[in-house]
Amino acid sequence: MAICYLLSVVLLFSFHNELEKWCVLGARMGLSEHQYHHVLDMKSLVPATTCVTPSTGPAQQYGLPLVHRRGPCSPLHQDQPHNPSMIFLRDKARYQLIASSIASSWHGHNVNPPPREQGEDMTVPVPGMEGDFLVTVGLGSPTRSLTLILDTGCDLTWTQCIPCPDAGCYKQEDPYYEPSKSSTYSDPQFYHSPSTYKIFYEDKSYSYGYYARDTLTLGPNYKFPNFVFGCGQNNSSNGFGSTAGILGLGKGTHTLVSQTAYKFNQIFCYCIPPTFSTNGYLLFGLGARKYCHPEMFTPLVSALPARPQYFVNLLSITIEDQTLSFTNLIKPNPSPSSSPSSSSSYKTIIDSGTTITRLPQSVYAVLCSAFQNYMWGYPEAPELPPLLDTCYDLEDYEDVKLPRIVLNFEQANVTLDPSGIIWRESNSQVCLAFSGNTDQKDDLIIIGSTQQSKLDILYDVKSKRVGFGRGSCGV
Ligand SMILES: *[C@@H]1O[C@H](CO)[C@@H](O)[C@H](O)[C@H]1NC(C)=O
Ligand SMILES: *[C@@H]1O[C@H](CO)[C@@H](O)[C@H](O)[C@H]1NC(C)=O
Ligand SMILES: *[C@@H]1O[C@H](CO)[C@@H](O)[C@H](O)[C@H]1NC(C)=O
Repeated sequence: MAICYLLSVVLLFSFHNELEKWCVLGARMGLSEHQYHHVLDMKSLVPATTCVTPSTGPAQQYGLPLVHRRGPCSPLHQDQPHNPSMIFLRDKARYQLIASSIASSWHGHNVNPPPREQGEDMTVPVPGMEGDFLVTVGLGSPTRSLTLILDTGCDLTWTQCIPCPDAGCYKQEDPYYEPSKSSTYSDPQFYHSPSTYKIFYEDKSYSYGYYARDTLTLGPNYKFPNFVFGCGQNNSSNGFGSTAGILGLGKGTHTLVSQTAYKFNQIFCYCIPPTFSTNGYLLFGLGARKYCHPEMFTPLVSALPARPQYFVNLLSITIEDQTLSFTNLIKPNPSPSSSPSSSSSYKTIIDSGTTITRLPQSVYAVLCSAFQNYMWGYPEAPELPPLLDTCYDLEDYEDVKLPRIVLNFEQANVTLDPSGIIWRESNSQVCLAFSGNTDQKDDLIIIGSTQQSKLDILYDVKSKRVGFGRGSCGV
């Protein structure tokens, strides 16, 4: 079952643009003797204005350059402008959709996907403004270039296909893919006809498409004939900006990962460049193994196999010398799946489509108060609603000392890059880039793209593990 997460414009505006404040003000005494682990050059945070992606390198040879949709290398010229409150509202909506769908799978009896009838229409929740990172793939013969949003929370790859009856396609930057102009196009023999899917939005509007097969080209070296993807026919929202669709890298039976398994062995790796910087990459198979350098692996949790998302166990967070153990801070919800170890009950997702990492309120409260303690010498700045409540004015500083933050996954303690700790809106408004969950009962943790910044993250789906190491993007 293809499952993605979306939000409609209607949903987006139904959220109040106000900030719930979870940060508990910590005592600011006796903190002068800290060992700071990061000294951040403020100049490194200033967005790049020119694209400096190298023309040769692993991404060009074994995968795809990964670019920020609003950064200097973005191929989109008519995309949404940078607007933090829109970005955070979308982020909040995505969190809520993922959390509610996971809560229903978790507490429902139907943890495994229902068996699918051949030829059945598939009704799937659709992706919304899914994430900020774009890759350009090729489809068909001759190859048509399509700029897609990378989404590890989605298991369907789709693009808009001509003809779109009744002006059913939204405007995209690339020319539309036209099945009739591709010599390698075919109907999938995969399902009996009509092999259609329905994608529905939260506002109950629908978008329709059908499954198709054609050659997928990933970089100069990889071609996958008969790749099954979704051909979008009948309108979609503006949520995708002017991209041509979604590259679904979630887990599942028909995802890109499983369709390319014979070549890539279900391995891919990416490095997300810091906001507005350049040189990100998405690598597959051998290229991922050769050029990504994971130092530690954490097991993928196999709970909720029907969900496209990648689940791991996050056990604690260390900020400087203080470890916030989740066992003490949150009570796990009982899980109906057969996971005897209590740590497996924490639900943590690594997601490319969420921007800001979300923590249970109790954990966030302690984290941000520890952060404030380290940052006490810096002037405070207004908060950045609706997600970020701990901000500083760093205009007058050349270097800023930031505490080291480590995510302690099962078997893998991952030190975040300084760019993965903070969100720079401007030099006079630099915020801790974590947020507490709105609902006190919500203990779903989502590791967002900001925290993944500059890390090599290698997904070895077959061996059920995710590796982390220092990446070489964003330089
Ligand atoms: C698209 O919409 C038109 C008109 O509503 C309908 O006839 C057609 O079957 C739809 N196409 C798909 C692929 O669902
Ligand atoms: C989507 O398609 C339906 C039926 O084809 C049409 O009535 C509607 O106006 C379209 N919406 C957009 C936004 O294109
Ligand atoms: C990770 O850090 C925690 C807390 O400091 C520590 O207890 C644990 O042994 C570390 N694990 C690994 C694999 O290094």
